[in-house]
Amino acid sequence: MYRTHTCGQLRIEDCGKEVTLSGWVQKSRDLGSMTFIDLRDRYGITQLVCDDTTDKSVYETAKTLSREYVIQVKGLVRERSSKNNKIPTGDIEIEVKDINILTTSKIPPFTIEDNTDGGDELRMKYRYLDLRRNCVKQNLELRHRLAMMVRNYLSNENFLEIETPFLIRSTPEGARDFVVPSRMNPNQFYALPQSPQQYKQLLMVSGFDRYFQIVKCFRDEDLRADRQPEFTQIDCEMSFVEQEDVLNMFEGLIKSLFKQEKGLEFGKFQRMTWHDAMKYYGSDKPDLRFDMKFVELNDVFQGKGFSVFDDAELVVGICAKGCANYTRKQLDALTDFVKRPQVGAKGLVYVKYNEDGSFKSSVDKFYTPEDLQKVAEKFGAEKGDLMLVMSGKTMQVRTQLCALRLEMGSQLNLKDPFNYAILWVTDFPLLEWNEDDQRFYAMHHPFTAPNPEDYPEKLDTDPGAVRANAYDLVINGTEVGGGSVRIHDRNMQLRMFEALGFTEESAKQQFGFLMSAFEYGAPPHAGLAFGFDRLCAIFAGADNIRDFIAFPKNNSGRDLMSDSPNFISDEQLEELYLALKPVEK
Ligand code: AMO
Repeated sequence: MYRTHTCGQLRIEDCGKEVTLSGWVQKSRDLGSMTFIDLRDRYGITQLVCDDTTDKSVYETAKTLSREYVIQVKGLVRERSSKNNKIPTGDIEIEVKDINILTTSKIPPFTIEDNTDGGDELRMKYRYLDLRRNCVKQNLELRHRLAMMVRNYLSNENFLEIETPFLIRSTPEGARDFVVPSRMNPNQFYALPQSPQQYKQLLMVSGFDRYFQIVKCFRDEDLRADRQPEFTQIDCEMSFVEQEDVLNMFEGLIKSLFKQEKGLEFGKFQRMTWHDAMKYYGSDKPDLRFDMKFVELNDVFQGKGFSVFDDAELVVGICAKGCANYTRKQLDALTDFVKRPQVGAKGLVYVKYNEDGSFKSSVDKFYTPEDLQKVAEKFGAEKGDLMLVMSGKTMQVRTQLCALRLEMGSQLNLKDPFNYAILWVTDFPLLEWNEDDQRFYAMHHPFTAPNPEDYPEKLDTDPGAVRANAYDLVINGTEVGGGSVRIHDRNMQLRMFEALGFTEESAKQQFGFLMSAFEYGAPPHAGLAFGFDRLCAIFAGADNIRDFIAFPKNNSGRDLMSDSPNFISDEQLEELYLALKPVEK
């Protein structure tokens, strides 16, 4: 028997017991007449002691132990003379009777501690060692707990978890596919699913009614802190439901996760239309942990001879409470921030509402104190506040001001990761115009139903203004999930393909199987998918989803540990008909 207890299990009540523990040597301290060893496993750390009462040969073995050796220890549990109240086993220690070295270890390339000396790259290369660190291990434990809660909740609500294939047909729209060559079908390729979207809709046609799956998805897109090329969705679909039913069901799921994991309770989630989210926060995923709402200022700023504002489509600003004391240097830094290529603004105008009631602005030449008073009134600003104003093309300037708003939120410490601001963003546009291709794309996907109020008339007259029955769940400025009511009517689907520039022919070629299925009785259905990695990160108050994935990729899509992607042999290439030289048949 390798162990009678784990390294996190023993307490003061266990004193006097003969126990066997197995684990890794966290550290060993040789104090001459005594040697202390911290033994670690998944469950915790237990202190082992060898002293002059220990058998000589055992003591000799203890002295040879080095970090990360795997050992088995037999001994007696006893009360510690100096207790450690920082760990659950801190009241006891093990008086060592026997040590068995199970495997030795090289000195690890970084310390296995929360505050490790290992940099990102090194930790990724030795991810299996990184995963030994308590803080990383806890992230995976959180992930497991949340997955179990999701399964229980949905199973109790009659959802069935059904697996869908990973080798599927490549379809256009959405992000780029990862493709897999087929050996048995020369020159033909599978794609890895960007999501099980079409399969879950087919399951609705099959009558499964309530489906879910915690499932890997693959997207060949540029990577960021909240984007991995392979990530996990909690993917769901329901039949005979409307948008309201879906929002209520999954609001229930999210609330239940927060309640169970964090003991937090929420009222009904706030809802905001996409239009308002853009107008007031410049983003379809507004961070509502703080307000700093946009105020549109064309009427008070235009017509006074300041051509930058006069010529702009939109003049819009935010009010930073209590920031009128910002120094020249701080204001310059903000201007530099918005001028960075990532934000791309031309400049920033400030108006300080000083404590003495006077105004100071970067455009004093053009505006009288009375003009600025009007601006302050528009903002509802108080003495001591700083107003920051930008101008330009409507959508562009909104996005730029959004970046500034988020920056101010950080500077003013308004982004507490554990203060959860949750909302549904609804009424997304159905279509999105692409300048390069000169055509509309589906904003969500081509099976998303239009808002009945806008269909069919508006689709003909003003397609860009048609709203979709689509929704996103946003937490603290992160898009955690999204979905839509689907089109189940064949004519509407054809009409939609037409708006997207498909002919019936080309639509059939791409989506034929789904369209055929819809000819055999498709129920009204709707669904959504949550980004599970993002959800885990949010529960832990973290930014990077990588820390919640056991074996993630870096920002170039590489797995540094296994060094993939990598080249394959000429033989493999030939077998897959991918050889650079033509293959003889
Ligand atoms: P969507 O494309 O919005 O919808 O994806 C759903 C959720 O998945 C998460 N997500 C990601 N997480 C990590 N890395 C990525 N690269 C990544 N891409 C997306 C986000 C997002 O909200 N089939 C539809 C859902 C539906 O309509 O039912 C879909 O995939 O949190």
